[in-house]
Amino acid sequence: MKIGFIGSGHIGKTVAKCAVRAGNSVIMSNSRGPETLSGIINELGPKATAATAAQAAAEGDIVVVTIPLFALPKVPVAPLDGKTVIDTMNYYPVRDGHIKELDNGTATTSELTARHLPGSHVVKAFNSIIASEIETTARPEGDPQRRTLPIARDDDAAKQTVTRLIRSIGFDVYDAGPLHEGFRFQNGTPAYCARANHGQLIRLLKQARG
Ligand SMILES: NC(=O)c1ccc[n+]([C@@H]2O[C@H](COP(=O)([O-])OP(=O)(O)OC[C@H]3O[C@@H](n4cnc5c(N)ncnc54)[C@H](OP(=O)(O)O)[C@@H]3O)[C@@H](O)[C@H]2O)c1
Repeated sequence: MKIGFIGSGHIGKTVAKCAVRAGNSVIMSNSRGPETLSGIINELGPKATAATAAQAAAEGDIVVVTIPLFALPKVPVAPLDGKTVIDTMNYYPVRDGHIKELDNGTATTSELTARHLPGSHVVKAFNSIIASEIETTARPEGDPQRRTLPIARDDDAAKQTVTRLIRSIGFDVYDAGPLHEGFRFQNGTPAYCARANHGQLIRLLKQARG
């Protein structure tokens, strides 16, 4: 699979590294342009290329949007039409400014992403694990220490695609339901970044207050 990345920071680079290890190729982008990504591309190896955000969006079979939430309006819409989009973003008012619907709980971050990308199939994933732990806590299938990561999504086919990717990287997956249920593992909840197995994660998700 070819995976496009809009954002090549802590999460983007680490997910890309793990995705390459799992046999995928990656197209990386950032806000400053492909010429600023040579270090990361060297690190990721021959299965990685640098591009603009619009190119990464157009060329990825699936695309990971992994930028600060304040930059969401800059994510290109047309090239993502019909695609599965992984949204890793969390909301930090100090960084992102206050967003009324997130403050009053009438929307989740990934619902805002889906609203910005009405033709895309948005899956909330990788928002609830510390970037470095994507590498350090990944475990092969069947390992008793294998973690379960939560996802939320409105589309079933996109869920299957993202689940396969996450499993190949080294984690089990728990489907927490539609994008609105993403509040259960946003930052500040008991499930957020918990090193949990399937049963533990389900218990933690239930503790979230909507
Ligand atoms: N770090 C974590 O452990 C962690 C864990 C879970 C979730 N998250 C969430 O995941 C998201 C990414 O986090 P991060 O820690 O990886 O952030 P980061 O290290 O600050 O990296 C952000 C990346 O986004 C790029 N970017 C910003 N605006 C862009 C635009 N308009 N088009 C394309 N690329 C753009 C930046 O490029 P430039 O450098 O060129 O500006 C940079 O590559 C955030 O929403 C964060 O809250 C982070």
